[in-house]
Amino acid sequence: MEFVELGRTKEKVSRIGLGTWQFSNSWGLTIYDSAKEIISSSIEMGINLINTAMVYGNGMSERFIGRALEELGIERSSIFVVTKIPGQFLSYDDVFKAVDRSLERLRFDYIDALLAHWPPAWHNHPTCEYMKAFERLVELGKVRYLGLSDYPIELAESARYCLSKNDIQILEARYNIVERQAEKEIIPYVESSGLSMLAWSPLAKAAVLAKYSLEEVSNFTDVRKDDAVYYPDNYKQILVLADAIKEVAEKYNKKPSQVALNWLIMYSKNVIPIPGAKNRDQAIENAGSVGWRMDYRYWRKLDEISRSIRLSYVNF
Ligand SMILES: NC(=O)c1ccc[n+]([C@@H]2O[C@H](COP(=O)([O-])OP(=O)(O)OC[C@H]3O[C@@H](n4cnc5c(N)ncnc54)[C@H](OP(=O)(O)O)[C@@H]3O)[C@@H](O)[C@H]2O)c1
Repeated sequence: MEFVELGRTKEKVSRIGLGTWQFSNSWGLTIYDSAKEIISSSIEMGINLINTAMVYGNGMSERFIGRALEELGIERSSIFVVTKIPGQFLSYDDVFKAVDRSLERLRFDYIDALLAHWPPAWHNHPTCEYMKAFERLVELGKVRYLGLSDYPIELAESARYCLSKNDIQILEARYNIVERQAEKEIIPYVESSGLSMLAWSPLAKAAVLAKYSLEEVSNFTDVRKDDAVYYPDNYKQILVLADAIKEVAEKYNKKPSQVALNWLIMYSKNVIPIPGAKNRDQAIENAGSVGWRMDYRYWRKLDEISRSIRLSYVNF
């Protein structure tokens, strides 16, 4: 496994993490033993960075992680867990209550990194109110590092301004080889500020793997049924890129998932993908996306095809 410094923390985290939204009804993995297998095989492969959130499965993801780490006898200090509080729970008091509940579910004394999951768009909690609560939790030893997820740069700047003794270390954002909006502002920002960007949906929810036919995607019942990458006009274009990803994978005797993730880590040293897995094999494959690099020529070829894709999020 390759390791990288998380933000400016001096903490060494694996070059790729494990996303765990899968442990929820949204994705359909609700059997504890399957989740435990994914967690244990990821750790065996050297992954030490786990991304969760209190809303994943209404606490199920955090519960599965806490139980699995305990049953597997994983030393607390050997694992780095990121969890998040959604925008609507960001009043000063709710931040403390939310963290207490996450700690209970995770069976931890402290959280490695606490992130606001998304801005409080409809709840009008002032930015400095929750950032000061976050900072208090660091002071009290309940949280080690801070971050923000799905924040525009202007708001991230305001949030940083509210902190007196700490700074954020992580921005989390959607980023995959077809949805590349983060390249415009977020990645340049994390690069110039020495932060890490956790890339969510790094496989575009499997769309870049061409596992599913157009007919199959029209019958999705999980979280993907409304995802723009699977709108027919978008998905048809993505399938062309997926063919090229497969070709590169064959040249290196790798899996398409490994090429799609490798492409992201080549784009920026500050990007850490956090793919989710539905089973042990996927977890092992995803961990194998680092420790090697595809040739620049292939990276460029995929870049060019990806740039020719025009995704639209408008669906009516
Ligand atoms: N901060 C945020 O707002 C936010 C939002 C979304 C996600 N996230 C985080 O990011 C993580 C990853 O994003 P995501 O779950 O949206 O999507 P993703 O990682 O792009 O795709 C995950 C899905 O792709 C398939 N897959 C994974 N590895 C594979 C492999 N090696 N071979 C074939 N198929 C594979 C699996 O689904 P099937 O097997 O069913 O096809 C899996 O559920 C989440 O778990 C979560 O932690 C954060």
